[in-house]
Amino acid sequence: MTVMARAFDPAFGEAWTAPQLAGMTTMDGTWLTLARLDAATLGFALVRSIFDEAELLLLAVDPGWRGRGIGSALLNDSIAAARLRGIKSMHLEVRSGNNAVNLYKNSGFLHVNTRCNYYRGNDNRLYDALSFRRDL
Ligand SMILES: CC(C)(COP(=O)(O)OP(=O)(O)OC[C@H]1O[C@@H](n2cnc3c(N)ncnc32)[C@H](O)[C@@H]1OP(=O)(O)O)[C@@H](O)C(=O)NCCC(=O)NCCS
Repeated sequence: MTVMARAFDPAFGEAWTAPQLAGMTTMDGTWLTLARLDAATLGFALVRSIFDEAELLLLAVDPGWRGRGIGSALLNDSIAAARLRGIKSMHLEVRSGNNAVNLYKNSGFLHVNTRCNYYRGNDNRLYDALSFRRDL
């Protein structure tokens, strides 16, 4: 939750609460991957799956540790874990303008849909939701 609080820009209200995270991580087919250095957690990825489809729900790296490949490593690990579980595809949704889009495109995700004006920032501005998908 320390990374959660630091990683997501409060302007968009995208960080989950502890009860939200705890509720999701106890569900079947859901797993949380942590990037750790000694006792410190530097980032995490949360994935849920239903049958042979997975959804990347959250990917976050502490702002002080970005740009060192931790986000890519978490994404690659999530994909490898999904493959081991027999999952055939992964999808995710991200706000337009989020730098994470580069990471997903570089990792082979394809933009498959846009939901216009789906997110509202705290400043009342509207942002599109971009859906990405890749076969595993
Ligand atoms: C997205 C995020 C997880 C990336 O973590 P990271 O550890 O910095 O990622 P990496 O170092 O592995 O970088 C992977 C790629 O992401 C892209 N990227 C990361 N930060 C970027 C930035 N500030 N500007 C542009 N591209 C960026 C680049 O394409 C980079 O690849 P490259 O280094 O080969 O150019 C991190 O920025 C984050 O926690 N953001 C806030 C939370 C969020 O919005 N998550 C996504 C939606 S759930």
